[in-house]
Amino acid sequence: MVYTYEAAKRAALEAVRRIAGADVGLSLATPPAGVPADLAIPCFPLAAALHASPQEIAARLARTVTLGPLLESAQASGGYLNLTFARGAFAAGVMGDVHRMGDRYGALDAGGGRTVVIDFSAPNVARQMSVGHLRSTIIGAALYELHKFAGYQPIGDNHLGDWGTQFGTLLYAYHAWLDREAYAQDPIGELLRLYVKFDAEARRDPSLRDQARQWHLRLEQGDPDARALWHEFVRHSLAAFQKIYDLLEVRFDHTLGESFYEDKMGEVIETAVRRGIAVEDQGALIVRLDDVGIKTPLILRRSDGATLYHTRDLATAIYRLRTFHPSKILYVVGADQRLHFQQLFATLRKLGFGDVDYVHVDFGLIQLPEGRMSTRRGRVVFLEDVLDEAMARARRLVEEKNPELSEPEKDEVARIVGIGAIKYADLSQNRVKNIVFDWDRMLALDGDSAPYLQYTYVRARGILRKGGDRAAEGPFDPVATGTPAEWALVLALGNFPEVVAEALQGYYPHVVANYLFALAQAFHGFYHDVPVLQADSAALRRSRVQLVAGVATVMRTGLGLLGIGVPERM
Ligand code: ARG
Repeated sequence: MVYTYEAAKRAALEAVRRIAGADVGLSLATPPAGVPADLAIPCFPLAAALHASPQEIAARLARTVTLGPLLESAQASGGYLNLTFARGAFAAGVMGDVHRMGDRYGALDAGGGRTVVIDFSAPNVARQMSVGHLRSTIIGAALYELHKFAGYQPIGDNHLGDWGTQFGTLLYAYHAWLDREAYAQDPIGELLRLYVKFDAEARRDPSLRDQARQWHLRLEQGDPDARALWHEFVRHSLAAFQKIYDLLEVRFDHTLGESFYEDKMGEVIETAVRRGIAVEDQGALIVRLDDVGIKTPLILRRSDGATLYHTRDLATAIYRLRTFHPSKILYVVGADQRLHFQQLFATLRKLGFGDVDYVHVDFGLIQLPEGRMSTRRGRVVFLEDVLDEAMARARRLVEEKNPELSEPEKDEVARIVGIGAIKYADLSQNRVKNIVFDWDRMLALDGDSAPYLQYTYVRARGILRKGGDRAAEGPFDPVATGTPAEWALVLALGNFPEVVAEALQGYYPHVVANYLFALAQAFHGFYHDVPVLQADSAALRRSRVQLVAGVATVMRTGLGLLGIGVPERM
């Protein structure tokens, strides 16, 4: 499937190639704002092959180029060849694509059915899921949808932090300081208190750390009491996490936590030793990586015999390769783990598991206005509180704007809008940036926010309900590209497949979010400037209704890629 925008670009390149020769390197650029052109081809790379200045080449091309049906005119501008679309044919093509593809409009076959494993969310057992894990969950879920839409077969795996030395800490603290009543009432809250207390106590008495290490070893060696307690911690945590996943409507294909790899690490360690990749260093087993430019070695096994997060991640990657045969594995994890993933990928390549794209899809921190979050210091905002607050605020809004809805309908709209607001506040920003945690911004119900986009959808649907749905039958008439507002909307709709491709390419959900915001603005401009249902002629009315229907479709699809739902009323 070649979309109209893509077809027009290819036609432009082809037209120039016919003159300049098949083997010259050509690229396309976007003309600067204010220039009356839709595409530009820089002629600088042609200068050497054609023995002329870029300006001369652009002028010659503008005179001689033969344009196909999608392109209307060519002009030279400095060293650029500027091209404009043939509006009628272009618009008919775009609107035909939208009409034919419906909810699949914008879908790509870039993935060719290949598998991509997406490792996301991955909160740690016995702690509350914090806003820090919210980013991974939301970004990961968006990348899952994006890959599915682009022809991949995504596999989502929640790599729960359910193993490791922190359980030694917890087991020690549990035995030393447990408040039974508090634990019965709020197990996760009590475990978190124990975790924080341990940190404070161990600052005063470092010998506690040795005792915690003992507990960890006991757990790794299968001590039944340690195991039973650990199981209990996992069970409590999973139940708490699931509540949040249900609210967010996030699902995983697998939840294979770190403990799943307990019996799969031996093989990794053996292989690394046998191949001389791992060496002894003061009793520990390490993999030196200076030869690939990484100064810090990866520790495979500590001197006390304990395995590490690293070791489990090695076993995990190998298991995924053997089980799912992916072409890519994405790790949606904060930028603070950059070194970890550099070491991991480098070690996997040394071990001979390099035949796959490993990608650390990193993201910035969430900071509180007073500084970085830290579970150990107890300085966190709990995700459930954030979600509840968002829904409560959305609920007040619905109460005010839609008093006619029934109570369950109001609840449902409040959930879609409140959760959407939270997801969008994250996904509309470039993921690599740090986010300063800000209630008002996160929950803003207007401006560049999910509620504004949802409202745009509701408004478009309202027009269609009022008289549009049937009126839309028939071909798109070019007469409805006559005003700047109409043409802007056609261009925006035509651009959606390219936006999907760009978001996929960089693993950037914000590209979709920012596009949807621009589409919403174009729609509101259009609605303000031209009559739709009251248009002068039947053809004009029909075609404008089709534009409205296109906006509704693309808005719903695009928000769906971000994991954000749309209400029918708000
Ligand atoms: N549980 C880890 C943490 O919260 C994240 C795990 C990410 N995935 C992975 N394969 N390492 O820091």
